[in-house]
Amino acid sequence: MATLVARVRTMLGALALVWLTVLAVPVAAQQPTSVNPTASSVKEQQLLQQLQRIEGRCTIPDQKACTIEQPAGRDWRRFHNVTLRWLGAIAILGMVLLLVVFYLWRGMVRIESGRSGRLLVRFNAFERFIHWMTATCFILLALSGLNITFGRSLLLPLIGPEAFTTWSQYAKYFHNYLSFPFAIGVFAIFLIWIAGNIPNKVDIEWAKRGGGIVGHDHPPAPRFNGGQKMIYWIVVIGGTAVAVTGYLLMFPFYATGIQGMQLAQTVHAIIAVLFVAAMLAHIYIGTIGMEGAFEAMGEGTVDVNWAREHHRLWLEQEMARTGPNESQRQPMATPAE
Ligand code: HEM
Repeated sequence: MATLVARVRTMLGALALVWLTVLAVPVAAQQPTSVNPTASSVKEQQLLQQLQRIEGRCTIPDQKACTIEQPAGRDWRRFHNVTLRWLGAIAILGMVLLLVVFYLWRGMVRIESGRSGRLLVRFNAFERFIHWMTATCFILLALSGLNITFGRSLLLPLIGPEAFTTWSQYAKYFHNYLSFPFAIGVFAIFLIWIAGNIPNKVDIEWAKRGGGIVGHDHPPAPRFNGGQKMIYWIVVIGGTAVAVTGYLLMFPFYATGIQGMQLAQTVHAIIAVLFVAAMLAHIYIGTIGMEGAFEAMGEGTVDVNWAREHHRLWLEQEMARTGPNESQRQPMATPAE
């Protein structure tokens, strides 16, 4: 009997232990594992596929701010953070490399017959003022714009957050306010030089003969040769395009929705980096690339022999118009020995 009682006691003890163990296991563990409480709710991916966007509810007046996510936004961000940087770096550094190689190979294009000492007026004061106003604005717009594209990754680590913040704030002011004299300058350039920049057959012949810069040939050219006409149209068309897209960005959502804004930014940025590359070539030829070119826009005059080698048709026209002596200024002062 005592043995039986002992066995029953052992069994009851074992049962009590099992019961206690079951109680101690967390409640969640007792749930069947196959049940997922969020299984029937809509997933982010499904929402994007169905609606092309994820929107919340917000109480501020600008309801565009309620859009949390849309596929086009990601595409645009990828363009801005990856594609544009590659394109910009290749265009700008590629052009710098090309110009360095070209300079090492060709050197400065000299006035082969030497300076005559007689000067011819090439640009009047108003033309030079418009040129330098537009050029100064362009350089500051390019630096301040490229700061948006590359500043964070290139400049921030170099100068630190405080200096970068101050510079970026000023850069933004430059970019906004200098856009106005720049746009006026582009329009003025269009008006004052359009007459000499209509492409014609002479330009084709000029280009076939290397434009007088690749070899040592001097193909005849009017006041503006084929290369200068190309620069003129890049400035007029490129300048108009960056101005139109730039003002769409500066006054957001007045004229277009989000897709239009993204397109405006994409076009603005692509044209801007190509524009910078083209202007580097223009700056090269106007400075170290060609003897006597800078003074045309610096002082407004060129040496008659420079004009004969690079713009013979223009020189002949000027001579015919005013007579050989009237079109030329006094000889330059002989430099001190
Ligand atoms: C009328 C002329 C122009 C206007 C109204 C204008 C306006 C703007 C605006 C509003 C932005 C966006 C700024 C921001 O996100 O805070 C911008 C960006 C930019 N601009 Fe201009 N801009 C003009 C000319 C130029 C020129 C001439 C260049 C260069 C040659 C240029 C290069 C750039 C670049 C590189 C960006 C940054 C693109 C990016 O990474 O998102 N812009 N511009």
